[in-house]
Amino acid sequence: MSVQKNISLLPYNSFHLDVNAAEFVSVKTREELRDHLNAQEPKLILGGGSNILLTRKVDGLVLKIGIRGIEEVKEDNAYIYVRAGAGEPWHGFVQYTMDRNWGGLENLSLIPGDVGAAPIQNIGAYGVELKDVFYELEAYDRKEKKVFTFGVNDCQFGYRDSIFKSARKGRYIILNVTFILHKNPVLNTHYGAIREELKIMGVKSPTIQDVSRAVIKIRQSKLPDPAVIGNAGSFFKNPVVDQAKFLSLSEKYPEIPAYPHEDQSVKLAAGWLIEQCGWKGYRRGDAGVHVNQALVLVNYGKATGSEIFELSEKISKSVYKKFGVELDREVNVF
Ligand code: EPU
Repeated sequence: MSVQKNISLLPYNSFHLDVNAAEFVSVKTREELRDHLNAQEPKLILGGGSNILLTRKVDGLVLKIGIRGIEEVKEDNAYIYVRAGAGEPWHGFVQYTMDRNWGGLENLSLIPGDVGAAPIQNIGAYGVELKDVFYELEAYDRKEKKVFTFGVNDCQFGYRDSIFKSARKGRYIILNVTFILHKNPVLNTHYGAIREELKIMGVKSPTIQDVSRAVIKIRQSKLPDPAVIGNAGSFFKNPVVDQAKFLSLSEKYPEIPAYPHEDQSVKLAAGWLIEQCGWKGYRRGDAGVHVNQALVLVNYGKATGSEIFELSEKISKSVYKKFGVELDREVNVF
């Protein structure tokens, strides 16, 4: 695809923000990627655009990674190794694996965005994280101008985090990701909401397809559909606090939702903290806080990225004031 000039990025970001890019190109192969990178340094690299808040126009090149393709790399008795291009839409890829009865991605159904972004923030939902099904990825190193392979340890996955989001942010462009999936699926239904949904569905011995359907129902009931209302999923990460902080909070708020995290720390529910500060369903102009999930900020139409950013700052400040807990953004701000 040739470079387009002065175009709106509205169709390319799930917040539906209407900001212009001086230049835009979607690359379909690694050769095209290399050529464009050699010709000029992009101002912004875009995947599915579902985890970004655009607060200003881009006065340079936006490079969208449109590398597609799904292939079976190898298999043994228990596992199948499947490689997907970074530009494959995530849920389409999940469906592809469901159709073949390969287990592992069912809990991650209906997450917006593309495959290439999934490892960057180690996407997760309903008790499963990308790292649990990850085998390796190939990424182009913008510094060395070479392609490198990263195994699971190289990626330094953490809660909504990886080397690509923290230590080496901006250095690598993910080209493809290989997943290790079960030929004889092992279900992960320990997350309460999934068990409840399966019960409502009347399913006694669930398959991975049933789990996928349950996850889709839960997501649709709580999370706004980005095709209808602009949003980028959870705007903040769930904050992690130490035991002492958790104990002082739970004395004052015995009902506070909390989940054990690494090294005795505790993960709190940012959605609950935000709701307690009175923000759930808040709307000013077209920028708001979703009515069913306070962790999701929304654009009802013509909000600007700056308005949403300002709202997020107000939310963080009020949560800090009430609970003494800092919220970190999950969404990338440009
Ligand atoms: N809660 C509230 N009020 C709200 C929202 C949530 O009180 O407005 C409470 C819920 O009642 C529950 C707890 O907070 O007790 C957790 O809520 P939920 O199960 O909806 O999950 P979450 O912690 O808000 C996380 C992920 C989601 C993922 C779900 C399910 C993060 C930042 N978010 O949300 O991921 O789908 O768990 O596993 O970790 C995303 O990253 O974009 C995303 C949507």
